[in-house]
Amino acid sequence: MERLLYGTKNMIGGEFELNSLPNIPNNGLNKLTKGKLGTWTTNGRSALHLILQKLKSQGINHIHLPAFLCQSILQPVIALDLEYSFYPVTPDLEALPDPPHNSAVLLIHYFGFINNAAAALRKNSGKNYQLIEDGSHVLLNENFFHESEKQYYFFSTRKHGPTALGGWCNLDLDLDDPEKDIEVYTWKSLAAKIFKGMYLSKKDGEIDLATENFYLELFRESEELLDSEIHPTKPPQIIVNIINNIHWDDVSRKRRTNWQTLHELIGDKVESFSDHLPNEVVPLGYVIRLKNRDPVKEKLAGHRIYAPIHWPMPEEVDIKKFPDSKMMTDSLLTLPIDQRYGPDDMIYIADALKDAL
Ligand SMILES: Cc1ncc(COP(=O)(O)O)c(C=O)c1O
Repeated sequence: MERLLYGTKNMIGGEFELNSLPNIPNNGLNKLTKGKLGTWTTNGRSALHLILQKLKSQGINHIHLPAFLCQSILQPVIALDLEYSFYPVTPDLEALPDPPHNSAVLLIHYFGFINNAAAALRKNSGKNYQLIEDGSHVLLNENFFHESEKQYYFFSTRKHGPTALGGWCNLDLDLDDPEKDIEVYTWKSLAAKIFKGMYLSKKDGEIDLATENFYLELFRESEELLDSEIHPTKPPQIIVNIINNIHWDDVSRKRRTNWQTLHELIGDKVESFSDHLPNEVVPLGYVIRLKNRDPVKEKLAGHRIYAPIHWPMPEEVDIKKFPDSKMMTDSLLTLPIDQRYGPDDMIYIADALKDAL
């Protein structure tokens, strides 16, 4: 472990940085939506809000949710005053819903993989329940959009690239323009990304905590605004441009290559969520299960590798009723393999992990 411990400002993980604002249109919007009819909006939760609002207007007041989910998904559910219940998700992340009559069922595809429950749920969507598929982790998976159009789809783009915002749903809507505060916070968040990009690209080696705290505070402020209320309006034009200009095929290729490199390095040393990468999968991260997850996460942070937890459980989920969710929230760790990184970074992560185990 030579490249490191507190000595260098190189870091792996955390919010995406930007080195410039991409300005060559690259058909990125269509690449993600596969040309399907739909509407771009502020973020993933706003896209879900739009779907739930439509279902509510049709008399659907109950949503059946996976007991393994991200807190932000509850935001539109609560804002629309919907009833909700949770269903179990197995340690292999298979959904086991039991849809109440006339409900909406949310299916999350986790970490790049299409949920094993998808086929059966899609078949019966539109009868007793309406299926809503969350593609935030699988938007680059070739199998995400299914041919049958009986279900609703939405996704958030910001887990896969430096977009700051961006969400989409398969409803044909004409939304209002974004409010001023969303425009302002979008630019703050983009400024923070550029700031981080400039900081990391200066190869003077020294860690400058004041600079790091400055951009982290800007990121925190923009998150706070998004967490405070739902904004189901059009996204700011700059966000649309960024999404459109990203080379999503390159993103997919790099993520898959990094995953495979890391798997070769640590696949026999840790329990990974999947032991191979099917052709269509573009992974969100390299997900591992660890009994001593928290100390390992901390030791990795000591090497400036920031591995997120998916997810701290929202308090609305009764973890006594869902022991598998509790086990996952206590043991899963997502190692970064995104497009910012290459083989040397994977070697660095593997060495640091072996050190930390
Ligand atoms: C699976 C999943 N769905 C939806 C969301 C919400 O996306 P956004 O933050 O763009 O609202 C997230 C956010 O982390 C997520 O992980």
